[in-house]
Amino acid sequence: MVARRRDRLEALAAELTRQHGTANQVVALDLLAEGAVDELWRQVGDLDVGIVVANAGISVAGPLVDNSPIEELNVLTLDGVVPLQLAHRFGRRFAQRRRGAVILVSSMIGAGPAPYLANYAAVKAYVSSLGLALNYELKKDGVDVLVVSPGPTQTEGLDNAVGIDFHKLEGPIMAPSRVACTALNNLGKRAHVIPGATNNSMALMGNTSCRGGCRSDSTAGSFTAPR
Ligand SMILES: NC(=O)c1ccc[n+]([C@@H]2O[C@H](COP(=O)([O-])OP(=O)(O)OC[C@H]3O[C@@H](n4cnc5c(N)ncnc54)[C@H](OP(=O)(O)O)[C@@H]3O)[C@@H](O)[C@H]2O)c1
Repeated sequence: MVARRRDRLEALAAELTRQHGTANQVVALDLLAEGAVDELWRQVGDLDVGIVVANAGISVAGPLVDNSPIEELNVLTLDGVVPLQLAHRFGRRFAQRRRGAVILVSSMIGAGPAPYLANYAAVKAYVSSLGLALNYELKKDGVDVLVVSPGPTQTEGLDNAVGIDFHKLEGPIMAPSRVACTALNNLGKRAHVIPGATNNSMALMGNTSCRGGCRSDSTAGSFTAPR
């Protein structure tokens, strides 16, 4: 388990051991730091890792030109570059031993252009495209790749999102455990999954983005940082 806050990771590790008897290794690491994935590999490269989940992600909302370019670059790095590096490192290892899986956490919002989440949506589109192609490339090597595109999910990230109040968006907010279960239940069966019936209906109706032209602004009522 990798994140920056060691105390949180250790508390979760202890809970998992208590409830499920698992052995856990905690790696406190800022994945935005230079060479972070190399450092992660140094720490866990000897482990018999079965599934890698590229989940850590951040978002920045608001008009792109008003936002900090450094923060937008951090979104690109953490949500896009790091999943690429993880998929490359672990995907190569898995292909060599002909077993393993990579789960890339994208977002429904990556289905198309999203005003006021422009960079985040674009990066998630990249992750989805990357994962779908890798699903094909690595299938012959016995490696499963799954792209998970959650809709709004009740996490700290959703509560603390800067510039947008996701609670004002229409539709249900899903429990993270449901997203995780849906991902694991679909791993090895398909290339892409959107957790939740309502989210799937919205995706079918093309309600998650403005592909083909951004005429109406579906996130405007949720936007909390006007110019
Ligand atoms: N929540 C939603 O509605 C939603 C919807 C669609 C997609 N997603 C995607 O789901 C994924 C998880 O989002 P979430 O809502 O669960 O976010 P979250 O509650 O903010 O959790 C993010 C996790 O990533 C870790 N993290 C953040 N920055 C990091 C860094 N620089 N280095 C290492 N670890 C870092 C955090 O731990 P530390 O802070 O301790 O590092 C935390 O464990 C993201 O890829 C997000 O884009 C979320």
